Parts: sequence; structure tokens; C-alpha cells
Amino acid sequence: MNHFLDIHKTDPSDLRAIIDQAKTTKQARLGHPKAALDDELPLKDRMVALIFEKPSTRTRVSFDVGVRQMGGQTMVLSGKDMQLGHGETIADTARVLSRYVDMIMIRTFDETVLTEMAEYSDVPVINGLTDRTHPCQIMADVLTYEEHRGPIKGKKVVWAGDGNNVCASFLHAAGQFGFDLTFTGPAQLDPEEEFIGLARKAGSKVTIERDAFKAVEGADLIVADTWVSMHDSQSSKERRHNMLRPYQVNDDLMAAAKPDALFMHCLPAHREEEVTSAVMDGPQSVIFDEAENRLHAQKAVMRWCLGG
Ligand code: CP
Repeated sequence: MNHFLDIHKTDPSDLRAIIDQAKTTKQARLGHPKAALDDELPLKDRMVALIFEKPSTRTRVSFDVGVRQMGGQTMVLSGKDMQLGHGETIADTARVLSRYVDMIMIRTFDETVLTEMAEYSDVPVINGLTDRTHPCQIMADVLTYEEHRGPIKGKKVVWAGDGNNVCASFLHAAGQFGFDLTFTGPAQLDPEEEFIGLARKAGSKVTIERDAFKAVEGADLIVADTWVSMHDSQSSKERRHNMLRPYQVNDDLMAAAKPDALFMHCLPAHREEEVTSAVMDGPQSVIFDEAENRLHAQKAVMRWCLGG
């Protein structure tokens, strides 16, 4: 049994196996109805709990569909409706759920909720996003890049905007998959030093460049995300927008990267804020492939969690 808690906590050879498994399974399903089951049913007769303490469209639907395609069943739980949201400890919740279900996916605020859940759970726990990281998203992003452009190893990825939880998992992936990452954004929103250090220690070149146009020179992939994350207070919105406006991904910025550079965004996006509609709907954008690949990448993650 394996927990999938973060990309830097997972062995690079396992990460590669997960991506390759996702490519194979996706290919095998081409032309099949979306709801049809896989030939192999690694989750047959298994129950997966999907816990959400924050809103979600992609994570919720892709996990739910993925489990069903692999022959399992899901129960979607809202943190506030569970005793977890009314004082029961995480440890007790984990021990109880382990008696009922075969796997737990949790989207929560504080990272310690995730790690404590994993510590006390007898079944695999998957990180469906915390305030600090979003590893399932970046597994889908690596899969998407490689489908379009081949191996991501050695490529230059530019993160434009807020050094948030999704950016953190991109930094983890840089170290584990061997690509370089340039962060361009205001100093107040730099990614955590710890995450930059981990990527550098793993041999990845991490650059901080305040000038967005200089940052994207030679870029193979430009990534943006919302300027106000779910865990940021709405009162900071105006201040964050003022700081982040120079980092909007628009046609001019895309034109300063390599001609075949891709654009990614984990969605949901705020059109005309962090990215223009022209870029989102343009020929370099792969945002909907990214969204689809949440399904394929997470199915491979779940297989791996069960030792497959
Ligand atoms: N990208 C992502 O995690 O989307 P949701 O918040 O809709 O799950």
C-alpha cells in the first residue's frame, strides 16, 4: 500500500511508472464510451472515500469517474458534514474510515490534516489539494506535456504569477522529472524557499526572474493560475491583482517564448485576469487536455496506491 501525498515524497521511478501507466490506459480507452469499464478492474468491489473541505469540479468528477471506470464505488463526503468538521480528531476519523473504505482522497486546507490522515489510516491516502501542494494536478500536467511534446526532462517551464500550492507541486516535479523551472512574479508571492531548495538539490535549475518577458525567453511551457487561491482572503484581491497584473499571460508574452511553447492552466481560470481568452482558446493552449488528464493520471495513481 502506498500513500500519494506529494510528488517529492514519491520515488522518481514510481512517478515515471504512473505517467507511463496513465498513457497506456488512456490509449487503451480511445473510442470507448466514457462510462464503460476498463478491461482490468483493479478497484472491483472497492470503496473509495472522496473528502472535500473545499470546492471542486475537476478533482471531484475525475476521481469519481476514475474509480467507477476501474470497477469501484465512491462516496463523496463534505468535511463540514462529517464529525471531522465538528471536533472529531483526524486520527480517529482515519482509523474509522479505514474500517469501511479501501482508499481515501482528501482535499483540505492545512497540510497537517493530510499527513495525519495518512499516519493513522490503514488504507492509501491521496492528496487532492492542500493549501501547500496539488500533486495530482501536476501529474496530469506532466502527462499532458509529454503527450504533446515528448519527454519533459530538460525542458524549460515558466510559472507566471503567484507562487502558490500548484506552483509548489511544479517545483517538486521539476526535481523529480528533471526539468528547469523559472518563476516570474512579484517578490511578495515567491514560492516557498523550501520547495525551491528541494528542486535545486534534485538537480533542477530554478530561476527567479521579475521581468515576465525575460523569464519566458526559451520557454517550452508557460503556466498560469488564479491570482486569488481558495485559501487566500477575498480582502487581499485588489492588492494581489495590482501586484500580479504585469504577469498576465497574453499573446505578447506567448510570442516571447519558443514558437512551439504550450500554455497550461489547472482551471478554474479567471479570463482576462491571469490569462486572456485569446491565449486560453488559442492554438498553444492545452488546458482541456490537462483537465481530461486528471482522470487518466489519477487512475494510475490509484493503481499505484494499491501496489499495482
Ligand atoms: N484544478 C482543480 O483542482 O480543479 P478543481 O478545483 O475544480 O478540482
